[in-house]
Amino acid sequence: MHKVEGMLKNKLLINYRLRKAVDNSTINGMKYLGTRCNTYGRSFWVLVLCGSFASMILILLFTIDTYDETISVNPDTSYLRWNSTFPAISLCYAKGRTNQISNFLKEHWASSNFTPAKSTNYLWPKMAQTYLFVSPNSNLDEDITAICAGLNSTCNLNLKVMKNRFLPSDCKDVLFDVKFVGESLDCNRIFRYTLTEMGNCFTANSIFDHELTFDHLPLKFNVRTRKRSLEFRYRNHDTINYMMYIHSPEDYPNFVVPFYALRKSGFVSHFMLQITETVNQPEVKDEPIDKRKCKFPDERLSPVLAYSFSQCFLYNRIKLELKLCNCTIPTSPKAYEKFYCDFKGLLCINKGMCSGG
Ligand SMILES: *[C@@H]1O[C@H](CO)[C@@H](O)[C@H](O)[C@H]1NC(C)=O
Ligand SMILES: *[C@@H]1O[C@H](CO)[C@@H](O)[C@H](O)[C@H]1NC(C)=O
Ligand SMILES: *[C@@H]1O[C@H](CO)[C@@H](O)[C@H](O)[C@H]1NC(C)=O
Repeated sequence: MHKVEGMLKNKLLINYRLRKAVDNSTINGMKYLGTRCNTYGRSFWVLVLCGSFASMILILLFTIDTYDETISVNPDTSYLRWNSTFPAISLCYAKGRTNQISNFLKEHWASSNFTPAKSTNYLWPKMAQTYLFVSPNSNLDEDITAICAGLNSTCNLNLKVMKNRFLPSDCKDVLFDVKFVGESLDCNRIFRYTLTEMGNCFTANSIFDHELTFDHLPLKFNVRTRKRSLEFRYRNHDTINYMMYIHSPEDYPNFVVPFYALRKSGFVSHFMLQITETVNQPEVKDEPIDKRKCKFPDERLSPVLAYSFSQCFLYNRIKLELKLCNCTIPTSPKAYEKFYCDFKGLLCINKGMCSGG
């Protein structure tokens, strides 16, 4: 009995304090919910408050919707007279959600009369996803490939088929509203679908797509250019997230350079850059390489690889992988397709990298 009274008292006290707080509230409309109004008055104000809250949320959602996924890259330069080269931009595919991969696997198994064990069912989409987005930073491990026992050397999966299914190769399926220095451009004119070390990317302004010289690059500006920006919007795909790399036109995305993970929706991003450009006199080329301590892109690393900082990394990584495991990860250039790793090879590389090989 005593206890119940205590509880009642507490309840009244809370009620009283709540009312006091509401009465003295400075939030618009809130004070009318207290003792100022009778029940009808209060109901009216509850409706008004709920209404404004709902419209606030609606406006917020609308704002997010209309401003989605716009990227703008603006370099800053201190040159007075020269034409400056815009940096290269790569938009690369990274792991998204696995729902559609699960559906694909179900179809795939149905057509090949294979039924995975119930207990390992949940591992499959993750495993297929890791295989699809394999890169120097993300590889298969033994725990997850345990489900492949008894299957062929790529776990009955075909990377080409999965790539065709999940990774759009037409720029128009990924990018739209592409603008450079304020002018609208066809995205196929600027962005090229490229296989890089970090996976498949759309790359703009790379010398590798323009005869290995800076002269033919499409994105340039000078002191008279008012709006020095590249803008684009991107479409959301369930299976894919995007990583954006901003790099030199003679490099490709690479596992040591930082990237920007682009969010799925609802934002405008601006990237301001400071560019340092080194312009060589043509005579520099006549100096021997060990004296000038740098190479020009057309002084190749190998018949298939032009020289650049990132290509040099790539070249040495491939050499190391071939030496250690007789194969290279499937994001190496097409010329190495013969040597692409199966699952055993990928595990070997994973181990080699972990042991600092
Ligand atoms: C800069 O580009 C413009 C137009 O493309 C060209 O006419 C001009 O000669 C270039 N200037 C230099 C210094 O390269
Ligand atoms: C493994 O099986 C899949 C599906 O049947 C096939 O597409 C793939 O080429 C096979 N892999 C190898 C290395 O034979
Ligand atoms: C690589 O291939 C060579 C010759 O084909 C073989 O002797 C060696 O064991 C292989 N290495 C690995 C790690 O598979």
